Amino acid sequence: MAEQKLSTAEILAKLRASKSNAGAAAPVAPAESVAAPTAEAVAPVESASAAESAAAKPGSPADVLAAVRAQAAAKSGTASAAKPAAPKPGATSDILAAIRAGKGGAAAPPVTSVSAEKVAPSKSAVAASSGVPKPSVEEMLKAVRGIAADVGAVAQVVPVKPALPPMPVKPAASKDKKGAVERRSFIAACFSPLVIAFGSMAATGLLWVLDLARFMFPNVLVEPPTKFKIGSSSDYPLGTVSTKWLAARGIWIVHTDQYQGKNLIYALASVCTHLGCTPNWLEGEQKYKCPCHGSGFYVTGINFEGPAPRPLERVGIRVAPDGMLEVDKSVKFQEEMGQWQDPNSFVDATLA
Ligand code: FES
Repeated sequence: MAEQKLSTAEILAKLRASKSNAGAAAPVAPAESVAAPTAEAVAPVESASAAESAAAKPGSPADVLAAVRAQAAAKSGTASAAKPAAPKPGATSDILAAIRAGKGGAAAPPVTSVSAEKVAPSKSAVAASSGVPKPSVEEMLKAVRGIAADVGAVAQVVPVKPALPPMPVKPAASKDKKGAVERRSFIAACFSPLVIAFGSMAATGLLWVLDLARFMFPNVLVEPPTKFKIGSSSDYPLGTVSTKWLAARGIWIVHTDQYQGKNLIYALASVCTHLGCTPNWLEGEQKYKCPCHGSGFYVTGINFEGPAPRPLERVGIRVAPDGMLEVDKSVKFQEEMGQWQDPNSFVDATLA
């Protein structure tokens, strides 16, 4: 039998007519009218009779439309045409429907925690729609508390240290003060008893080493040769006392004829016979005068004043083969000993 399609106006008129009939026939069931819209929203797939009973009750236009569609579907025999679209998973209503379905239709306590919906909304909706064992409210709360505990543990792993107040800046010591302290420390270290003791020991050792070196290399007195030439006899005229060799050789060359009336050239040692001082030849006074104790000697060398006990000494002199006069200081002749008579103690100027 072909189904006759009704318009909205016809449906509303039909509904109002049936409503007025039903209101006259049956009293209103207040308890069911309160629960009916919620049951339709949660589980819309129900029998056509349920839709009809719901349509008989006063409600919103949406309820009325749903009841009409359910009735039309029952008439056509295709329940699937009146079946509303499956609730979208993930909504709060889905979770509550799943919870209520898992509790076997009993009224479940409402899940007020928003985090619980956010934890696994799609899972519960899928479980509710696919028939997988659904988690209980306690399990979901446990899951939420576990996540909160993990978040708390992570927060405890990284504790936030309180900010410390800034440390006061230590005033830097001035360079002059630091230098003065270092100088004082250095001076104190230099004059410490230990340093002085070790310094003295080191100095003593050094002196010993130097003395040893000095002992190993003694002084060598390099004296000039005792024999040396003083030139020809003509260089020393008669009646003169030459001081040419006084400083270098310590002798006077005397050419005189006052000793025993002989014209002689001889060499007198410039050593005072008192205590060894060096007398000076005084040309004006024609004498040798010792500056130490005032001894005086004639031009011949004979002492005549002062403490000198004897005449000056002569040294050897001769005419060398080359005609030069040669002096030999290694030999000495003393007048008091009669040695001035030795021909090696003078040169006869008349023969030279
Ligand atoms: Fe010459 Fe005494 S040393 S007088």
